Amino acid sequence: MDKIKIAIAGIGNCASSLIQGIEYYKNKNEDDAIGLMHWDIGGYKPSDIEVVAAFDIDKRKVGKDVSEAIFAPPNCTAVFCPEIPPTGAIVKMGSILDGVSEHMVDYSDNRRFIPSDEQELTKEQVVKELQDCGAEILLNYMPVGSENATRFYAECALEAGVAFINNMPVFIVSNPEWAAKFEEKGIPIIGDDIKAQLGATITHRMLADLFHKRGVKLERTYQLNTGGNTDFLNMLNRNRLASKKESKTEAVQSVVGQRMDDDNIHVGPSDYVPWQNDNKLCFLRMEGKLFGDVPMNIELRLSVEDSPNSAGVVIDAVRCCKLALDRGIGGILYSPSSYFMKHPPKQFTDDEAHAMTDAFIKGERDN
Ligand SMILES: NC(=O)c1ccc[n+]([C@@H]2O[C@H](COP(=O)([O-])OP(=O)(O)OC[C@H]3O[C@@H](n4cnc5c(N)ncnc54)[C@H](O)[C@@H]3O)[C@@H](O)[C@H]2O)c1
Repeated sequence: MDKIKIAIAGIGNCASSLIQGIEYYKNKNEDDAIGLMHWDIGGYKPSDIEVVAAFDIDKRKVGKDVSEAIFAPPNCTAVFCPEIPPTGAIVKMGSILDGVSEHMVDYSDNRRFIPSDEQELTKEQVVKELQDCGAEILLNYMPVGSENATRFYAECALEAGVAFINNMPVFIVSNPEWAAKFEEKGIPIIGDDIKAQLGATITHRMLADLFHKRGVKLERTYQLNTGGNTDFLNMLNRNRLASKKESKTEAVQSVVGQRMDDDNIHVGPSDYVPWQNDNKLCFLRMEGKLFGDVPMNIELRLSVEDSPNSAGVVIDAVRCCKLALDRGIGGILYSPSSYFMKHPPKQFTDDEAHAMTDAFIKGERDN
């Protein structure tokens, strides 16, 4: 099979886990590979993914080979594959725009982003980079609230004719205007906001769906999340949070059956606890009424390393996107978006989305 050539914007913790994973699974086979939803997607293995370009703005990452940059501070995720051979892809200075929240200057250097003073690349230069290295898919990993930076990289993908996977909650794929631009050019897109492998969202959704299917009325729920990585530090700035809250809340609202009153559902990042680093804790409570209007409740605490949890899904999204490219399919990939993302253009239950994605992989569905 061909290699799948990817470019990445934002070499943070999620990118680190993905790149470690590509190397990690090179030395495995189908029987001893733990932690994957699919070993093979249309003939592509995890190790068929190759990073050919990368963009960041942090002075500890720009100018380094991706294999080194992924271990530079403030990245703090688990290192499960420490030996990454040089990729030949050197991290280029991106365009900062609104990627760095002002409040970060109040935190120590090893916790926050430190912008490089290298010349920022223009859109034309990023497009040229993408084309020169033969990138097929651009992954967007901008910090939450980076509306302009995300649109900048989405435009670069459009102009370069490169597919786009939007792993974060600035709405591109679920924004009809933006989706139409990719549709017109026949470029595949998957998004928005990656739904982790076994994270707070899928757990909350599965339980909400269970309440619905078992006839238990969900009356009130919260999902409180804490973590100590730069994603959680960034989200202390409440002004950047609107789309993240919408993405996470809608992911649950869409499966409860009857929509809950806004006052009765609270889902969101709740606090930054530095010593947690990339460990994320989720505290979940659901209150409902069962047979005879009799009350019940459930409480759950989930502890996960945040970034490998996202990479376990992105590694499949990339391969599904490549299948679309191979098949000449452009525009929104509805099935992978609904299974892999929190805020797809169209929501389905996870069981439906799983079946649709399997059908897409087998070629029984176009998108
Ligand atoms: N971990 C998960 O499970 C998960 C799930 C869903 C969504 N996400 C989202 O994915 C995104 C990435 O998460 P992360 O944990 O890797 O974040 P991170 O803070 O570790 O990484 C962000 C990276 O982007 C860089 N950056 C900032 N502005 C930039 C710009 N203008 N151009 C290029 N690079 C820029 C930073 O220097 C940093 O390296 C976040 O928006 C997060 O909310 C993560």
